[in-house]
Amino acid sequence: MKVQSALLTAISVFTAYYVYTPLPSTVSEPWKLMLLDATFRCAQDVSNLAHYVGLSHHLRVLNFVSNYFDKHDPISSGHMKVTDTVFDGVEVRIFEPTTEPSGTLKRSIIYIHGGGWALGSARTRSYDNLCRKVSEDVNAVVVSVEYRLVPDVHFPTPLDDAFTATKYFLSPEVLEKYSIDPDRIAISGDSAGGNLAAAVCQQIAGDPNVTIKPKLQALIYPVLQMLDFNTPSYQQNRDMPIVSRFVMIKFWLDYLNVSHTFAHSLEVNNHTSLDVSETLSLRELLNWHSLLPLSFKKDYKPVLQSTGNPNIIQEIPALIDRRASPLIALQETLQLLPKTYILTCEHDVLRDDGTIYARRLQEAGIDVTHDHYNDGFHGCMIFASWPTYFSVGARTRDGYIKWLKQNL
Ligand SMILES: *[C@@H]1O[C@H](CO)[C@@H](O)[C@H](O)[C@H]1NC(C)=O
Ligand SMILES: *[C@@H]1O[C@H](CO)[C@@H](O)[C@H](O)[C@H]1NC(C)=O
Ligand SMILES: *[C@@H]1O[C@H](CO)[C@@H](O)[C@H](O)[C@H]1NC(C)=O
Repeated sequence: MKVQSALLTAISVFTAYYVYTPLPSTVSEPWKLMLLDATFRCAQDVSNLAHYVGLSHHLRVLNFVSNYFDKHDPISSGHMKVTDTVFDGVEVRIFEPTTEPSGTLKRSIIYIHGGGWALGSARTRSYDNLCRKVSEDVNAVVVSVEYRLVPDVHFPTPLDDAFTATKYFLSPEVLEKYSIDPDRIAISGDSAGGNLAAAVCQQIAGDPNVTIKPKLQALIYPVLQMLDFNTPSYQQNRDMPIVSRFVMIKFWLDYLNVSHTFAHSLEVNNHTSLDVSETLSLRELLNWHSLLPLSFKKDYKPVLQSTGNPNIIQEIPALIDRRASPLIALQETLQLLPKTYILTCEHDVLRDDGTIYARRLQEAGIDVTHDHYNDGFHGCMIFASWPTYFSVGARTRDGYIKWLKQNL
């Protein structure tokens, strides 16, 4: 009896503390999302504890906890060859459909996984499943990039890895080896992987040494800027699972190898206040007052401090680096980019990053498809199979694949 009531109390405390989060009824399957979020927060707390007692860096623990049961070796099947290999020093997993006679030229997608530059892997079930499905359905070779992660490395190393692997793949010899049609290549990624994909595309566009350019870029709820943590979507979804504003800011600080003591300053935009003169013209490039539709802006007010943290550029030089924040690229760079797909979710702090980028690209004359999911949440596309199936997960994935099929 005693044990039972203790257990019951423990479960109630767990439920009350971890599970219950008030969520808008418009998000896809709110109860399931609460459970998913509770699991993620519980893993974060365990990681923070391990960090606190000095066992290991919290991100390393979190990555270990979330990948432990999930990573696996490449598994080929009758119609799909899967191999792990290395492209100019960077590990990649390659998915090759084998249904056609060898030598037939195929389409191809370079895929960069998400996870705040610190979590995830091309070898986890979620990304392995996604890339396999994309490869099968589009009948394309998918190269999934295993770039190195924070805290082992920091900005710009994950980007350099993604760029190096991409550049190596885009050489005529390598494309020939894999029977790839050089005119039908896409670069794609989700979340932090969408940040890397967008930056890689900008870098390739401006690099005369890369002569084979991608036909498409496809960005899934990408992270694109760190100058304004008070866009309407950051305000509206501040506490939304599974990536709240505070969690996103901490991912940024870890990526840039900066102390978490800056987090509160970033939350109130003290890093881009009027006295941080270096950031003024850049903030103008993401002036959401003119770049977002009214249905997104609602009644939210811009947060622009007159005095903030003027010395922050010395501490965070990457604050004004376009390789970290591809959203602040100049128009002349945007003009060189390929046809673009951008997917955004309503219940996501990053909704406006993607939306503003879509708008800026359109203004630069680029053909953009912007798919917005009103019941979507950040990360939903990898939750499209048991035990973490969400209807919006399957719909976002299928919509993305459909666009690739039609445009690649
Ligand atoms: C292109 O290649 C040349 C010769 O290897 C090199 O000197 C130059 O820096 C490269 N340009 C870029 C933009 O990487
Ligand atoms: C990250 O910061 C730490 C402490 O400030 C420093 O020792 C380390 O060299 C930095 N790493 C990189 C890659 O800049
Ligand atoms: C923002 O900057 C102002 C002016 O330096 C300072 O008074 C305020 O405490 C800062 N707020 C945060 C949260 O760092």
